Amino acid sequence: MKTAVLSRRDIPKAAAIIKRGGLVAFPTETVYGLGANALDAKAVAKIFAAKGRPADNPMIVHVSSIEEVVPLVIGVPKKAELLMRRFWPGPLSIVFPKSKKVPDIVTAGLDTVVIRMPSNTIARALIAESGLPIAAPSANTSGRPSPTKASHVMEDLSGRIDAVIEGGSCENGLESTVIDVRTPVPTILRLGSLPIEEIEKVIGRVRIAGKKSKARSPGMKYRHYAPKAELILIEGGATRVAARIRSLRKALESEGMAVRVLSKDELSPRSLYEKLRHAKAGVLVAPCVKEEGMGRAVMDRLRRAASRIIRL
Ligand code: TXA
Ligand code: MG
Repeated sequence: MKTAVLSRRDIPKAAAIIKRGGLVAFPTETVYGLGANALDAKAVAKIFAAKGRPADNPMIVHVSSIEEVVPLVIGVPKKAELLMRRFWPGPLSIVFPKSKKVPDIVTAGLDTVVIRMPSNTIARALIAESGLPIAAPSANTSGRPSPTKASHVMEDLSGRIDAVIEGGSCENGLESTVIDVRTPVPTILRLGSLPIEEIEKVIGRVRIAGKKSKARSPGMKYRHYAPKAELILIEGGATRVAARIRSLRKALESEGMAVRVLSKDELSPRSLYEKLRHAKAGVLVAPCVKEEGMGRAVMDRLRRAASRIIRL
């Protein structure tokens, strides 16, 4: 199969592919998604095959308006409604009890479905034009960093999907935040582009699902975002971290290893995945960033991608 590279003007063409059960990768404000008709089990099965995605990892369903949520769920919790009104369209994915309309393959057999309304105009136009909810995980090969440019999608999936819509670089560069408001204290299942500080202003205190929590997103148990290079993450106070980086670099270079230290800019949400994706063999060293706002999600991803974490 030859993967067509489409532009914004080709949205009708892309919508036609979705309607006939094909796969289209499209930009969102977070990362590129690999979309299929969420109501068509056969089409969704193609996503798992193209990505090499484990069958027990459910997908997010994308809508273009709040009304489109109604047929997909059994009831909307009050706090979910507050969040939708405040943050949609935008990078927040919400867990709902699922209706029969959503095929089991989308939710990996769970009785919940995670839904979001992206703010990217190409994404929303594609959903509206196809007249269907679109199931879409990130458009990367499973285990690789999520794509933030159409060229990253092509690196991983060229020849395995029908089309990709070129939409430039993703504004945020990190996936959406996933939240379940049905627990007594709302639970963040995945840290992401929407900072929890913002969410807490609307619904009060939230908690972050721990490593062992059953409530975690099934996808979070897999190793993710792993670069080709060995990634060493160094956590601690700025002065100690800087000193350790100097000594580590010296030691590794004396053994003949190529060492690159990621800069503050490179660790920003918009550039992190591209840096991890294109890191050549050798050693990549990442100093920690402050765990506030989007920095929390950056640290979460670095810890998942790292082959070694040094805590000072
Ligand atoms: O920003 C994003 O969310 C991007 C764009 C394309 O929208 N999508 C994305 O999808 O990151 P994916 O499949 O790479 O990550 C979805 C996450 C996974 O960790 C998955 O386990 C979790 O959401 N998830 C999906 N449905 C769930 C459910 N019913 N219950 C708990 N977690 C769920
Ligand atoms: Mg993903």
